[in-house]
Amino acid sequence: MIASIAIAPEHYVSEDTFKQELEHVFKKQWLFIGFRDELANHNDFLTLDIAGFPIVVQNFDGELSALLNICSHRKARLQTAPKGNRPLRCPYHCWSYKAGGRLAGIPANNQEFQLDESQKAALGLKQFAVDTCGNFVFVRVSQDGPSLRAFLGDCFGMLEDFSAHFNDPVHSGRYVWKSNWKLAVETVLEVYHVPGTHPDSFSNLARAECDIISIAPHNLGNTPLLEAPKKWWAGVRKQLKLNQHPTLDEYNHVFIYPNLAIGLTNGSLMSVQTYDPLNREETVLHYRLRMVSTPDGPAREGALKRAVVANFTEFNHTILEEDRIMAESCQLNYAHTATPALLGKCEDRIRLFHDAWRTDNDRANSEGAK
Ligand code: FES
Ligand SMILES: [Fe+2]
Repeated sequence: MIASIAIAPEHYVSEDTFKQELEHVFKKQWLFIGFRDELANHNDFLTLDIAGFPIVVQNFDGELSALLNICSHRKARLQTAPKGNRPLRCPYHCWSYKAGGRLAGIPANNQEFQLDESQKAALGLKQFAVDTCGNFVFVRVSQDGPSLRAFLGDCFGMLEDFSAHFNDPVHSGRYVWKSNWKLAVETVLEVYHVPGTHPDSFSNLARAECDIISIAPHNLGNTPLLEAPKKWWAGVRKQLKLNQHPTLDEYNHVFIYPNLAIGLTNGSLMSVQTYDPLNREETVLHYRLRMVSTPDGPAREGALKRAVVANFTEFNHTILEEDRIMAESCQLNYAHTATPALLGKCEDRIRLFHDAWRTDNDRANSEGAK
């Protein structure tokens, strides 16, 4: 037998496993939060919630700070939108914060609190690690751990390279799936499901074959594109005068552990997806589509570009809906079986994902035993 054995079903439904994952996976690893060009200006911010744990990354005069998104006064959420531009000021009673989470102002402090400077300093927001790889911004809650460059390893140069080519943000959105975050991730790590799940969508894009490369804890998968989508993209590039990435011309896919997936179609379109757990059986899938540019910057807005973007946005929606149905089906059934799934050769990226997860899980268990 060449098949491998997947993580036991209980780990997709257990509250204990989920709590352990929050502490030992999501608070320990570098997590993608968004793009540097979304944080270009003073007071630009992005927020991220992992199982209710709220993080904000904000630009303060060019400096990025990653902070706990909870006001020190009476614990209201500071930034409530997924992204935007506004001072870091609490909407409840207007306490405000500056770079590094330092308290900047308390309305009527002299009448209401009479906090001196050292007392104010103690009320700063908890600060986390934040770093960039090209245009990709990552945060890490844990104070200790490898640098972002060490964590990404050989993927660091790839993400820098993608940043240089795919810089026209054309669409983004989010879905909530009723599945554990691992099941959601697994839908994107294999093409064995393509004929069954995507007979009229992804089957028209690529073959159900995959070259797999492990860059532990991350992995890559390259799938040959069919001729028709290559021709379609060649026509789009010609009409919109787009560049093409010089080497990535198939369906190239990168998975950055634990929950970032980057798919590149014919060196022309980058789809960046994160799978953020809401709870043990619900996941937020956030996708961002970025197209290649012309030599002079993003392609001009107009009817043609709108039609092209509408075409692949609809395609993306169809595929994600087809995947959601399967992930949610499996989630319901994982509560009724103790037998682990079997993973075939074409599903080997899931084994690699599970190996990385087991490493975190084993570390959590050994720390718990101390
Ligand atoms: S809760 Fe934030 S200022 Fe009161
Ligand atoms: Fe799929």
